Amino acid sequence: MSSTNRIALVTGANKGIGLAIARQLGARGYSVWLGCRDLKRGEAAADTLRKAGIDAHAVQLDVTDAISVAGAAATVEREAGWLDALVNNAGLMFAPPPSVAEESIDEMAQMFETNVFGVMRVTQAFLPFLRKSGSARIVMMSSGLSSLGEALDMRSETWPVGFAGYCASKTALNMLTVKLAKELASEGIKVNAVDPGLTSTDMTGNGPGHSPDEGARPAVALATTHAYGPTAGLYACTDSGDLLLKQW
Ligand SMILES: NC(=O)c1ccc[n+]([C@@H]2O[C@H](COP(=O)([O-])OP(=O)(O)OC[C@H]3O[C@@H](n4cnc5c(N)ncnc54)[C@H](OP(=O)(O)O)[C@@H]3O)[C@@H](O)[C@H]2O)c1
Repeated sequence: MSSTNRIALVTGANKGIGLAIARQLGARGYSVWLGCRDLKRGEAAADTLRKAGIDAHAVQLDVTDAISVAGAAATVEREAGWLDALVNNAGLMFAPPPSVAEESIDEMAQMFETNVFGVMRVTQAFLPFLRKSGSARIVMMSSGLSSLGEALDMRSETWPVGFAGYCASKTALNMLTVKLAKELASEGIKVNAVDPGLTSTDMTGNGPGHSPDEGARPAVALATTHAYGPTAGLYACTDSGDLLLKQW
């Protein structure tokens, strides 16, 4: 691997928005590491990217498993040496619960374990390699459903949406984004959350929504943002592809 390459790790990159993020970062010249809990599916995804001329590598990474995360960190340190961008894309959502009152606590806990603690487990493990970059970027895959402002706004599309445990897990992730961004600002590391918009993937039953390539755009923009780019924000993309700052 060339020492001038920029290097990115994308979690949950074997399919959906994560694979599209890896493809777009690869097309911009990044060496991409695809963190995937099933290494076979990760290797298959990396192979499709390599056939498109992208320097892609799969690494086994289950964000809920400390041993798996430590193993992935050791592999990336040994093979790559440092990281310029970490995209915490892996996420979990269950079918809509009947109501908040009846939502399964076990399912809520699993979503927090993946969407909140998993993200922090990965971020803490890879931070030493991000610090070696000099201009590292961390992107948290949040959701439009994370916004407390929109949840309280009757005019918002998210007003009638349920999924309380999922939404709350992404709201918690937003706060950790802000705390981490403030802590790392003096080191030049930018930390932002993104809303991909409703995207047709396995998570949404491949129903209505734009393509994973479109859903990937805000994450790619923040993962590659320049020295004067933003930090501590929640961003989506407009239809024309411009970044749009959203309310928390
Ligand atoms: N689709 C939307 O409309 C939408 C909207 C807002 C936010 N998001 C967020 O966007 C992100 C990507 O979602 P998607 O729509 O692309 O869904 P997806 O196609 O279902 O992909 C989810 C990815 O996360 C991985 N993952 C789940 N649990 C994991 C774990 N414990 N360790 C490692 N990887 C794990 C999955 O791996 P496996 O293949 O092994 O299951 C898969 O690669 C998620 O964070 C989601 O919350 C999506």
